[in-house]
Amino acid sequence: MLELDYTNVIDTWVGSSHGIPKIAFEKAAESSGPIVQAIQRAHENGVLGFAGLPNDDVGVKAVTDFAKSHEQPVILILGIGGSALGPAALDSALAQPHSGKRLVVLDNIDPDFVRDTLDSIVPQDTIVNVIAKSGVTAETMASFAIVRQWMIDGVGEAHARERFVVTTDPEKGDLLAIARQEKYPVFTIPPNVGGRFSVLSPVGALPAALLGFSVEAMMSGARKAVDQARHKFFENPSLVAAFIQFVLERERQKKILVLFPYSQALWKFAFWFKQLWGESLGKKVNRRGREVYYGQTPTAALGVTDQHSQLQLFIEGPNDKAFIFWNARNLKNELPIEHPYSKFDSMGYLQKKNLADLFRAEKTATEIALTEAGRPNITISVDRINEEAMGNLIMFSQYVTAYAGEFYDINAFDQPGVEYGKKLTFAMMGRSGFANYGPKIEEMRTRDRAVIR
Ligand code: PA5
Repeated sequence: MLELDYTNVIDTWVGSSHGIPKIAFEKAAESSGPIVQAIQRAHENGVLGFAGLPNDDVGVKAVTDFAKSHEQPVILILGIGGSALGPAALDSALAQPHSGKRLVVLDNIDPDFVRDTLDSIVPQDTIVNVIAKSGVTAETMASFAIVRQWMIDGVGEAHARERFVVTTDPEKGDLLAIARQEKYPVFTIPPNVGGRFSVLSPVGALPAALLGFSVEAMMSGARKAVDQARHKFFENPSLVAAFIQFVLERERQKKILVLFPYSQALWKFAFWFKQLWGESLGKKVNRRGREVYYGQTPTAALGVTDQHSQLQLFIEGPNDKAFIFWNARNLKNELPIEHPYSKFDSMGYLQKKNLADLFRAEKTATEIALTEAGRPNITISVDRINEEAMGNLIMFSQYVTAYAGEFYDINAFDQPGVEYGKKLTFAMMGRSGFANYGPKIEEMRTRDRAVIR
């Protein structure tokens, strides 16, 4: 079961300028009922859909059945943002070294990356999952065109069709129309589930099934997080975590949120969370239309690797950061350290210890150092990293984000900034319907440039 330890944000331990007094938690416990109710209501009246995804038994059966008849060793995803980061996080957490399966994610259109990636796999071994909620994203559609030709060149036109599966909106978008025309199998994302909240839809569930992970266990873990997210304040880790970050950002000037997994397996989960947090909470206006410019900038650090890179800054640099540690209480391996060098100081003390103990000690040391320096930090732990825990962590994180949006009183489920960038790109590439952005682009292009050569 997921556990939140928030000891190190209490003012007793990090000081009153950087921490939160216990009384503030008591007050939040009394006043935060409407926040839980607002998200619950949005689910009940169909505005939000992410919490219902783990109950879709028919959907889970559909992806697992599909996976049973598609055993290609390489699963190539074409997608970006919420249509790529979730599957990548699941793969990084759950992939087994000798599974015979490999996930490859083309979530960038740097042509050299695309060419090198395609040169590293073979079409005969590959199933391609094209994922785009909107069904029109420029990067994904362009990659699709290139990968389609690569597949035709590799297996021939007739067979190429069998190697594509599409995940998209059930009603709209060109990707859906193309899939119908080409008779590709289609998995759908419910319209009330936004891109970055979609990992438990076929966006993540289909790649997970193709990779051989237990989608049922993932959904079971997610259901537990939904249940916990509806509890009273002090029994509700997602609500407390949202409250903590809201207070730290608004009242303690912690403008940066460092996502700090002490788990190599959770490294890409941190990148998934980064999008969830940044895109959901980075907003210019609140729900009443007032300009607020909210948001806490998420960044990632990896334990222990970043202890030798960013930690000096975290401990002694500006006190403008909050920290979330993520870890698993049980690791798959303890790895005993045995060697013949006991007379050497730097080796002797390690003799007969476990590598896992050193790893845990370093996490505790980092926590102590940050807390002593007045840097508020919380730890989120799961028992071990498996499908159930990933479902739990994903749903927990989505609830933290949704609740934080309520504390801020903003719409956490739109992304007008991203949409604007997409429109400018369409205009520059000559897509019809976007010509009205032309003058702005032209003005920018012809501006006197400040350039040094
Ligand atoms: O959260 C979101 O909605 C976005 O980040 C999208 O995931 C991203 O822009 C990709 O969109 P699409 O799935 O339509 O290609």
